[in-house]
Amino acid sequence: MKITVVGTGYVGLVVGACLAETGNDVICADVDQGKVDGLKKNVLPIYEPGLEEYVERNQAAGRLVFTTDVPSAIRDAEVIFIAVGTPPDEDGSADLKHVLAVADSIGKHAAREVVVVTKSTVPVGTAEKVAAAIRPHATVPFHMSSNPEFLKEGAALDDFMKPDRVVVGVETEFARERMAELYAPFVRTGKPIIFMDIPSAEMTKYAANAMLATRISFMNEIANLCEKVGANVDLVRKGIGSDSRIGPAFLFPGPGYGGSCFPKDVKALVRTSEERGAPMGVLKAVEDANEKQKHRLFQKITEVFGGQLKGRRIALWGLAFKANTDDMRESPALVLIEELLTAGATVVAHDPAAMHETRRRIGDAIGYAKTSYEAAQGADAMVVVTDWNEYRFPDFARLKSVLKQPVVVDGRNLYDPTKMESLGFTYRSIGRGR
Ligand code: UGA
Repeated sequence: MKITVVGTGYVGLVVGACLAETGNDVICADVDQGKVDGLKKNVLPIYEPGLEEYVERNQAAGRLVFTTDVPSAIRDAEVIFIAVGTPPDEDGSADLKHVLAVADSIGKHAAREVVVVTKSTVPVGTAEKVAAAIRPHATVPFHMSSNPEFLKEGAALDDFMKPDRVVVGVETEFARERMAELYAPFVRTGKPIIFMDIPSAEMTKYAANAMLATRISFMNEIANLCEKVGANVDLVRKGIGSDSRIGPAFLFPGPGYGGSCFPKDVKALVRTSEERGAPMGVLKAVEDANEKQKHRLFQKITEVFGGQLKGRRIALWGLAFKANTDDMRESPALVLIEELLTAGATVVAHDPAAMHETRRRIGDAIGYAKTSYEAAQGADAMVVVTDWNEYRFPDFARLKSVLKQPVVVDGRNLYDPTKMESLGFTYRSIGRGR
């Protein structure tokens, strides 16, 4: 099939590369000349394991083409994915100006019957707005579809190639058939394509992210309470996760959720719910709990040092909002860094992928170390912020020997508290003892 993906951000690139991988002819269009120039040379604007090889292979095979010429990319497409950014505007609602600009172009330039798919996360009612923007100029029939994306950064290719399910909102048989054909190679293991009406598909995306964010805030608050009552959140997590109605995934407490999705989508859903007169108080609480949680690591460090952080050197292991990404958007590390610096501490950080992006944001306000042990060298405490695999099994003897004081504050519960104490560390984690 001839596919056009407009927008080469995270979602657009993954969709384009994966659809090319299954033999479609894909054009990825973006107005950003610099980005497109880079992509033509297989230079990706984001870090995602495996994506570079996909782009390189499919570009070499001629199935994946990058261009800034949006009108000509639209002209001959059978399916057009709109995957441009929807940044939150001041009041937290998604700003649709890029989406609607693409819609306008589709109306003006589409030259064959086409399915128009909203792939960016967009509020309920957006497909209708897109259709309204296409209609006045359209010279060919078009069919709307909403096909929310559920991929996770760091595991995006796997999530796309082997999805738990594909959700597709359609209103015509034509769109349904096209989308079924397009996704057939990805659901051969028997996973479902769930067809539904368009508003339900749009809502499903927000409901999924909001539910996951709710689980995290819930577990973070349970963890904080565990500390007060002498319970161990690891055991509580296993205890409740084995209930098949609850399930074991996404119950890990930590320094608060970050990234480009949960914070933005929770805000947008709160806003929609208020606008539509069905306010979701539960989500407001999820947001508040997350804001509070982003201060937990700083509180723990402060407690260890009796409030005296001036002149202390603190090592951070991890900066990205989660492992396997260089994404710093809404990362709890940024909140922690600001608090540490304000308290007069110096910060030296290590991250396998996100140091470059951190430097771009905050420059040399902190030091950057080539290795995790170099970061810990001479530090008064080491703080685990991100759950990178390489931090899971450190050489504790070496860590202890390079630290000035054997203090470890573990924001991801990577280590065993009993073991850490027997090794002579002052150890703090989330929801397990102190
Ligand atoms: C999230 C969803 O998981 C995807 O399904 C969705 O497609 C995506 O948003 C999106 O809307 O585009 P992502 O933001 O890449 O994906 O990252 P997650 O792996 O979901 O992690 C989000 C945050 O929750 C991270 O800060 C992570 O550290 C935190 N988290 C996750 C926890 O604190 N505890 C957990 O148990 C799981």
